[in-house]
Amino acid sequence: MGTNHIGLLKRRALLSAGAGAAIVGLQRPRPSQAGQRHQIHVAPGLAPLTGERRRATDVWTYGGSVPGPTLRVRQGEPVSIVVENGLDQDTTVHWHGIRLPIGMDGVPGISQPPIRPGERFVYEFTPPDAGTFWYHPHANTLEQLGRGLAGALIVEERSPVPVDRELVWTIMDWRLRPDGQITRGFGNRMEAAMSGRIGNTVTINGVLPTGERVRGSERVRIRLINAALARIMALRFEDHRPVIVAVDGQPCDPHEPKDGRLLLGPAMRIDVVVDMQGKPGHRYRVMDDYYEAREYSLTELSYESAPPVRERSLEEPIRLPPNPLPEPDLKAAERRQLVLQGGMMGGGEMMGMRGMGNAAWAINGMSMTGDGHAGMDPLAKFELGRSYVLSLRNDTAWPHPMHLHGHSFRVLNRNGAPVPFNQWADTVFLDPRETVDVAFVADNPGDWMFHCHITDHQTAGLMAVLRVGGTAKG
Ligand code: C2O
Ligand code: CU
Repeated sequence: MGTNHIGLLKRRALLSAGAGAAIVGLQRPRPSQAGQRHQIHVAPGLAPLTGERRRATDVWTYGGSVPGPTLRVRQGEPVSIVVENGLDQDTTVHWHGIRLPIGMDGVPGISQPPIRPGERFVYEFTPPDAGTFWYHPHANTLEQLGRGLAGALIVEERSPVPVDRELVWTIMDWRLRPDGQITRGFGNRMEAAMSGRIGNTVTINGVLPTGERVRGSERVRIRLINAALARIMALRFEDHRPVIVAVDGQPCDPHEPKDGRLLLGPAMRIDVVVDMQGKPGHRYRVMDDYYEAREYSLTELSYESAPPVRERSLEEPIRLPPNPLPEPDLKAAERRQLVLQGGMMGGGEMMGMRGMGNAAWAINGMSMTGDGHAGMDPLAKFELGRSYVLSLRNDTAWPHPMHLHGHSFRVLNRNGAPVPFNQWADTVFLDPRETVDVAFVADNPGDWMFHCHITDHQTAGLMAVLRVGGTAKG
């Protein structure tokens, strides 16, 4: 057990304080806003991440909370979200995973001019797909996301999914000092060429988790969102068998994860359905064991002593209704290769990055740094309406969750082996040396970012523009 050191201290304190008592603190429910019209004020604030008000952390917030409000909208109906910038620097909002028009995508200089301090921007789009999405800035992303700007965006299915309850876990990772404040120094060049800025405190919905209360035999849908800057997670539910029903918001064939581990790189989402088969009054840990020798208990499922809600757990798995995704024509698809390069090797030398200036990473030999800006040349061009297979090859010694804006793609195979369960994604995880083929229909015109979602990697060169359709500009 390591990494979550502040978490561990706190947990120990809680355990001694609560000795003998069976009551467990509930996760604080996040403000949740349902409807098609929303207003979000972006501003500094205070967040009791560790649960202790006198050690509250100075953060940047959407609507006063960390994470921001969970926005719940209806599939296929227009949404309008007014974003007012109360920071003293430019910002934008990217609606991660939503297939929307380029002008609403939140990339500064490409989708829109940045929202200046004191100004506002109205985002308007109609979400075609139901599912678990999220929102975050695309300007000074390292610091703005690292200081707390993130929130869940839930597009609801047209008819309710038959579960007893639904939970949203927006998981964030913080690098805190012992006094509870955020450690400075975003954009450390050494970290940027390695694992990125991994923190020491992991929160669910803005607090150090003390346990999630559940009832026996309940069927619960949990929407897992990795909203961390750089931390990769592999979650295991002790003595439970979560069934994956959606990946990155897109429904898949229901299946249990390999080895029971739910792999979540930054920006990735997984919806699971968990049948609560534990014993009343017992507690079961949810472990994160992604990093070797750094396993820690993220939270616990804490069973009420009340009798189960039904005699036996449900067994029939849930299949979510399909989204209207364009099916790529694999026979006619054109193939494009994108090779991820750079980063630090074991010995400390940079790989194949001679003459790359400030960048630590590249795609096909080109490095785009920062958050997106005007005049970025497209790395590749795609004909509107055509199907493509992107062959992504990771030539680096580090894993990368690669995100494509404006589209969802079908994940075809890994190192040549077919990927089962009909999985679509907008952010696909590549292990070192791995090759992953994905396919998509280039049906959304615009200049779309394609980048690693380990934010330090993105801003240090692991980013490109893919142009769909004619010319966006020039
Ligand atoms: Cu969630 Cu360009 O990213
Ligand atoms: Cu990366």
